[in-house]
Amino acid sequence: MCGIVGYVGEKQALQVVVDGLRRMEYRGYDSAGVAVVADGRLDVRKKAGKLANLESLLGSDPLAQSTTGIGHTRWATHGGPTDANAHPHVSADGSVAVIHNGIIENFAELRAELAAAGVVLASDTDTEVVAHLLAATLPEVGDDLAEAMRIVCRRLSGAFTLVAVRADRPDVVVGARRNSPLVVGRGDGENFLASDVSAFIAHTRHALELGQDQVVTLTRDSIVVTDFDGTPATPNAYEVTWDASAAEKGGYDTFMAKEIAEQPKAVADTLLGRIDVDGRLALDEMRMTDGELREVDKVVVIACGTAYHAGLVAKYALEHWTRLPCEVELASEFRYRDPVIDRRTLVVAISQSGETMDTLMALRYAREQDARVLAICNTQGSTIPRESDAVLYTHAGPEVAVASTKAFLTQLVACYLVALYVAQVRGNKFGDEIAMVVRELADMPRKIDLVLDTTEEVEALAAMLQDARSVLFIGRHVGYPVALEGALKLKELAYMHAEGFAAGELKHGPIALLEDRLPVIVVVPSPRGRSVLHEKIVSNVQEVRARGARTIVIAEEGDDAVVPYADHLVRVPECPTLLQPLLAAVPLQVFACAMATAKGHDVDQPRNLAKSVTVE
Ligand code: AGP
Repeated sequence: MCGIVGYVGEKQALQVVVDGLRRMEYRGYDSAGVAVVADGRLDVRKKAGKLANLESLLGSDPLAQSTTGIGHTRWATHGGPTDANAHPHVSADGSVAVIHNGIIENFAELRAELAAAGVVLASDTDTEVVAHLLAATLPEVGDDLAEAMRIVCRRLSGAFTLVAVRADRPDVVVGARRNSPLVVGRGDGENFLASDVSAFIAHTRHALELGQDQVVTLTRDSIVVTDFDGTPATPNAYEVTWDASAAEKGGYDTFMAKEIAEQPKAVADTLLGRIDVDGRLALDEMRMTDGELREVDKVVVIACGTAYHAGLVAKYALEHWTRLPCEVELASEFRYRDPVIDRRTLVVAISQSGETMDTLMALRYAREQDARVLAICNTQGSTIPRESDAVLYTHAGPEVAVASTKAFLTQLVACYLVALYVAQVRGNKFGDEIAMVVRELADMPRKIDLVLDTTEEVEALAAMLQDARSVLFIGRHVGYPVALEGALKLKELAYMHAEGFAAGELKHGPIALLEDRLPVIVVVPSPRGRSVLHEKIVSNVQEVRARGARTIVIAEEGDDAVVPYADHLVRVPECPTLLQPLLAAVPLQVFACAMATAKGHDVDQPRNLAKSVTVE
């Protein structure tokens, strides 16, 4: 969702701000704007549409030179994606410009108050009220923008990151955050504010986490943080572990293609350092004593979208390996149904971005009920890990494409690690059994590499099926969440009807959807081990085929039982059933990416979507 950049330093602010916005384009947006402070006034340009539209406006109507500026990419909430609603918003007297991410829930009341005071509002946004309120407050506080920001923030409810500049202070940028992301980049003679570190990683790797309800004031040489009451606060400093090239396409046509290809490394990196020489797991990050882990009587996973699908796989692994009951819940539903949790519940919140508002609110609710929350997250310094009791970071590196790929695989790995660790501590499994699974896990990067060898054949399949009206995905056991994930990928990228079903449910209704040549993608479990599962799905494939649908079967090497019923066969290497999602998900990612490409869609930034969903 909205991307925010603020800069004060020695460079031309416009260049820094626009580069930062470009690096955050992946967040999803529908208009963009910038403001710089120059010659005692605010120079603002904003435009609906992509950054290119703003850049062409800047080409025909250049901004004044300035070393202090702010920039914004907007994902519309209040008011359509028009030039007038684009940020920055400037107060009626031209003294303050503001950009905002989030939703100010009491904006209608504030708008009414401003209107009654004779202020004419120029947009339909909730943000504009902040510009007018800041301008009205400044004279009361000796024109101190940070103090005005604190006063105004105390009046706002909802979620907001705000960044503001003042016309007559060319050397100050002020930011504030409640529930929405904002990080500080500390440079040498320059400082940055941004929704995420990718905006300033080309300039500095030194970052500071801002806490909840804090205001930060930047000049070239200083960073001052307080809470909303003005009490000084010390932000947590950290070094970003990746560099700017990690967030570039590196020769691939799309970020998604690059991120699919990076999966073997992402999985290997996520395993790194978590297994000792004896094959035992060492997850100190869980920050739970063995005694506390033994007291857990239930695990609840909360997540959204792809992360939720990782959670569904976690349920199979956790229950099988630990014998602890596990519930998996869409974070957006969790706190509204009065869930039964207490201090013996381990809540696992899974999130790539660490900023998903639904997941954040669910975890806060869980903590209020005394549950212990473990975050599985890919983004250092983000809100979800910061508010959790413990965090297990996935090491996927920056995921730029809106459609999650490498983050999903690393979330699966993290879930397996947690499940095995709990089994190890609680003694549900013998050490040699755990060591065997761990060895299998360590071999997965090699196997994912082998699956990537099927990329061309899967792309050819997608090109052939690009005119299909709909695609169905079916699977059993852990193949079921993989089917859901395959369908989600296709929906978000190819904008077509796609649905995932538990294969056994087909006959209870969805089988009516089958028609001649309808593509049905079947995730087949290993024929080894739980062969009943395999036999059942072979029957399901036959049921589908018998109704004229076209079957695309993802099956293990050497599984010949499915061959007679497969119109198309995609092979994955042998592996234990529980780990198979790490392999079977990959061709489905490639399929969706290729389908979107064949249809001429923007693969990395699908319509209407945002990478990090910071509103409920
Ligand atoms: C998946 O491709 C989507 N980008 C989306 O479903 C995503 O997984 C979901 O919004 C959760 O995001 P998070 O992992 O950052 O919390």
